[in-house]
Amino acid sequence: MKSDLFNLEGETAVVIGGTGVLGGAMAEALASQGARVAIVGRSRDRGEQRVKAVASAGGSAAFFAADALSRESMTDARDAIISRFGSIDVLVNAAGGNRPDATLPPGSDFCKLPLDAWRDVFDLNLVGGVLLPCQVFGETMIGKGRGSIINVASMAGMIPLSRVVAYSAAKAAVINLTKFLAREWATRGVRVNAVSPGFFPAEQNRKLLFNDDGTYTERGGQIIAHTPMARFGEPAELAGAIVWLAASKASSFVTGQNIVADGGFSSVTI
Ligand SMILES: NC(=O)c1ccc[n+]([C@@H]2O[C@H](COP(=O)([O-])OP(=O)(O)OC[C@H]3O[C@@H](n4cnc5c(N)ncnc54)[C@H](OP(=O)(O)O)[C@@H]3O)[C@@H](O)[C@H]2O)c1
Repeated sequence: MKSDLFNLEGETAVVIGGTGVLGGAMAEALASQGARVAIVGRSRDRGEQRVKAVASAGGSAAFFAADALSRESMTDARDAIISRFGSIDVLVNAAGGNRPDATLPPGSDFCKLPLDAWRDVFDLNLVGGVLLPCQVFGETMIGKGRGSIINVASMAGMIPLSRVVAYSAAKAAVINLTKFLAREWATRGVRVNAVSPGFFPAEQNRKLLFNDDGTYTERGGQIIAHTPMARFGEPAELAGAIVWLAASKASSFVTGQNIVADGGFSSVTI
């Protein structure tokens, strides 16, 4: 007998940051299980490309242009998604990233880290990345009494990685807020979990990991040396965790958890 444990047919999944490398792969994974997927982001080009990729694999998706840092924009996107698809059952918060001026190059002075760069990283990863979408879309889920929210945190939120100090601290706050919301909404039918990727080459970190000729940078090589699986992750390797947490049958008693996919990076100390 075929199991429907991971079946998402009839459900609407919203992926904020579905225009990006990891969010896009998550959107495709959800569509592959039958969900109608709303791909949300600012980049229409990349959004429409991902919609085409979903459609060519036999899935259903539409792009909604929105800025996660604006409550008004999030509310407009939510309303447009409901009027197009009828419901919102799953929310993946995949908007986020680091910025170079909020990192500490070797030998630099933490005391000189610019405050505006620090604030921008917190705004993107914590406010636009989780807080506003959870308020706006979470309200709808609570009204309906069911839903699954998946916040994309980072392995850097569990271990304060060198250099990326603002990003690590912001992602630590994402994991903390995930647990807070899990408790807050546990009896309201809404589960809230996090997925923490390790190192996955994407637009925002490619220069950090690779030289122009495709060899590892010094930092890239150090990361590989510290990763028991001795490689970076592939975006499709996050699909299982996302589909499992999205599927109300498969993960019905799971909330407040942080699922780590990092090739073993966080499990070793040397
Ligand atoms: N790659 C990794 O190794 C790694 C590791 C751990 C965690 N992560 C996390 O995974 C998530 C996805 O990152 P990625 O690596 O796939 O990077 P990415 O390709 O740069 O994707 C980031 C996405 O965030 C969206 N975004 C940024 N600002 C936005 C805003 N104001 N409103 C709406 N969307 C916004 C961008 O969409 P638009 O430009 O279209 O707005 C983009 O699609 C991030 O939270 C990142 O921190 C990544």
